[in-house]
Amino acid sequence: MSKKKQLKLGAFLPGSGHHVAAWRHPNTPADGGLNFQHYKQLAQTAERGKFDMLFLADGLAVWDRGQGAEAFSRSGQFSVHFEPLTLLSALSAVTENIGLVATSSTYDEPFHLARKFASLDYLSGGRAGWNLVTSSAEAAAQNFSQENHLEHSLRYERAREFVDVVTKLWDSWEDDAFLHDKESGIYFDAEKLHVPHHKGKHFSVRGPLNVARPPQGYPVIVQAGSSEAGQDLAAQTAEAIFTAQQTLAEAQAFYTSVKGRLAKYGRSPDHLKIMPGVFPVIGKTEQEAKDKYEQLQELIHPLVGLGLLSGLVGGHDLSKYPLDGPLPDLPDTNGGKSRLQLIIDLARRENLTIRQLYLWIAGARGHRTILGTPEHIADQLEDWFVNGGADGFNIMPPWLPGGLEEFVDLVIPELQRRGIFRTEYESSTLRENLGLPRPVNQFTTKTAPEPVGVGSLA
Ligand SMILES: Cc1cc2nc3c(=O)[nH]c(=O)nc-3n(C[C@H](O)[C@H](O)[C@H](O)COP(=O)(O)O)c2cc1C
Repeated sequence: MSKKKQLKLGAFLPGSGHHVAAWRHPNTPADGGLNFQHYKQLAQTAERGKFDMLFLADGLAVWDRGQGAEAFSRSGQFSVHFEPLTLLSALSAVTENIGLVATSSTYDEPFHLARKFASLDYLSGGRAGWNLVTSSAEAAAQNFSQENHLEHSLRYERAREFVDVVTKLWDSWEDDAFLHDKESGIYFDAEKLHVPHHKGKHFSVRGPLNVARPPQGYPVIVQAGSSEAGQDLAAQTAEAIFTAQQTLAEAQAFYTSVKGRLAKYGRSPDHLKIMPGVFPVIGKTEQEAKDKYEQLQELIHPLVGLGLLSGLVGGHDLSKYPLDGPLPDLPDTNGGKSRLQLIIDLARRENLTIRQLYLWIAGARGHRTILGTPEHIADQLEDWFVNGGADGFNIMPPWLPGGLEEFVDLVIPELQRRGIFRTEYESSTLRENLGLPRPVNQFTTKTAPEPVGVGSLA
């Protein structure tokens, strides 16, 4: 009997957990974001659950926009944390199979970024992944000597070239360029060195990279943009895409929209995994799950709830509107466009007041929330998986480490029993575990390889 299509799972792990009040949970280390022993335990728990990857998000500015000092002083958990690549390098030494994916923004330089992810791929034996973002927080600009965040579409245009430069740098050396021949004294085969000499609208990078071609060819390229521009960039360059979707219909529409663009770039639909975020609250009974959720909801300070919502709608200060009144019409944002639209649609669809809205998004920030027994949660995941809404999910534990341990101990066995999730890792590299091809070196092929990252700009 042929094996069923297998679900892909990411463990999305912000210090104390995803719920905005998670750090106040009695069984959570409040300093989770800077606690290595805590992260070591999380990484090993996710690996015990056979997750494809653990994912660390990142922001280049603290979350203090759109909220006052008191609100900010009560909501520090998303603002203070390890620089993700530094943490992943350490976690690569205490794990063996789990993929190590971190956000890195196009505020970085392509040469720096290519070098860091290539190094992580060597440290981890081929388990690195790069979540490419153009930074949803407009405030990031002020930490990089810029007054304003680049305009949204220009950010994505620049990101397109950024990926091009990074993959050319990863292709600087052919896989077998280094001879290390002590006898002849030849260190590398000069024929197998390719100097990119990239000159483009946004970047001029000569190269080559001073790290050999990564074990995976390229670390896996992930993206998290869902706007028109975001979807198009992903269709050209990404191998996995994180997204926030509330309903199956929305998820199916997004899935069809993204996958429908791949042919245009000569790509196979199987080579881009769509992974919506899911915030699971697990209980032996539905009531127990509801009680656990309520326990967290009761820890939300109104200023913190409102501050989070303001941040997600483009930093628009909502404190001047009546809390028990409707969400006002909001101006468009130059930050995260799809998230703003998702929250407006949610408020209108469910007819929510501002207070009801911040309580709704306090856990999952617009991603889907599922409360219930392990069987119920497995049902919901399987439903989206078999009905064209997802290839996998980015699991967002409400609090840590408990929310992750419960998922690994209670939901993973249920998914394995249904034959839709692995019981053993297939391979030691992230790319192979995701069922993705190894990219061909663009400088060694006469025929244009299936574009991963290089796309039509090669
Ligand atoms: C699961 C997930 C993780 C994300 N992680 C980050 C992150 O670490 N840093 C960041 O600046 N933006 C992050 N984003 C936001 C996206 O980069 C992007 O700004 C947002 O999805 C809106 O994209 P759009 O403007 O294309 O609609 C994330 C989004 C999702 C769905």
